[in-house]
Amino acid sequence: MSRPSENILPLLASLDAALRPDRWDDYVGQKQVKANVRIAIDAAKKRGGMPEHILFYGPPGVGKTTLAHLVAATLGSPLKTTSGVAIERAGDLAAILTNLEPNTVLFIDEIHRLSRKIEELLYPALESGHLDIVLGKGPSARTVELALPSFTLVGATTRAAELSGPLRSRFGGGIYQLDFYNDDDLRDIIRRSATLLDLKAPEEVVERIAARSRATPRVANALLKRVRDFSEVHERPLSAALCDEACELFGIDEYGLTKDDRRYLEALLTSFRGGPAGVRALAAALHEEPDTVEYIYEPYLLRLGFIERSPRGRVLTQKGRSYLGK
Ligand SMILES: Nc1ncnc2c1ncn2[C@@H]1O[C@H](COP(=O)(O)OP(=O)(O)O)[C@@H](O)[C@H]1O
Ligand SMILES: [Mg+2]
Repeated sequence: MSRPSENILPLLASLDAALRPDRWDDYVGQKQVKANVRIAIDAAKKRGGMPEHILFYGPPGVGKTTLAHLVAATLGSPLKTTSGVAIERAGDLAAILTNLEPNTVLFIDEIHRLSRKIEELLYPALESGHLDIVLGKGPSARTVELALPSFTLVGATTRAAELSGPLRSRFGGGIYQLDFYNDDDLRDIIRRSATLLDLKAPEEVVERIAARSRATPRVANALLKRVRDFSEVHERPLSAALCDEACELFGIDEYGLTKDDRRYLEALLTSFRGGPAGVRALAAALHEEPDTVEYIYEPYLLRLGFIERSPRGRVLTQKGRSYLGK
């Protein structure tokens, strides 16, 4: 039996890949995004070309990377994955682009992290398939156009608002927002993962895990795996009661909230009298990065209706107050 050990990380990584849908039929929910992307791909295939560049945005774990894989697979294209943080210098971008096999899907994750300078280099590559390379320095410097292999850029970001207007306008294949998942879709995902993991998960377990998954497929899968570990260690089959015990041990309540979320809500209530509180002040009170607060904690609390964003900051709602009152 496999137990958490120093090898847990690679194991989790490989399981993650194992649970990633590799067919459109297994990609649950996000119907409209799926339909639009598939039309762009089918049209391109009919013309014998590559689709225009596509952007996916939404919170972590909702299926952006998975879609990039599906796009490449459907096109029969190689997938080259990189991220906005990894491309620091002009040379990094040039090396990536010039080494692409023709008709590659280039996936740039966290694309909002690209610097303006790199973005500007990217524009001609996206529009007309060439790079402007500057040779030499000073008055004798000259620019040469370097033709690139054909490619489709698939960008992903948790922060669409941070993308520059010019970069956005280059995604002719569409800009798609991925939403949180509803309960039915989460249950479908959990059932499929249970089958892949060779687990017998009764419906009541599926329901409970779905309800505690923060409307996020990655969390659903991770929680299913942790509950599986708990059941193996205790040598008890999966049941509602076991699920509840496991979640209590993990510090995950019936809303899927953790002690970090509760700390956030309590800080908003006690240190800021329910708000409005600016995200920086809140983050400082929690000893967290403002980004973590804004992009990891808040989206799901907003969705639950426990907090609201006002022009002057975050406000604890009546719902949030009664949650804390429990
Ligand atoms: N629509 C979906 N249907 C089924 N499983 C999904 C779906 N979206 C995400 N997942 C699961 O969640 C995991 C995380 O998704 P991922 O694409 O890496 O999210 P993101 O890139 O948005 O952070 C995937 O490995 C996959 O197992
Ligand atoms: Mg991703």
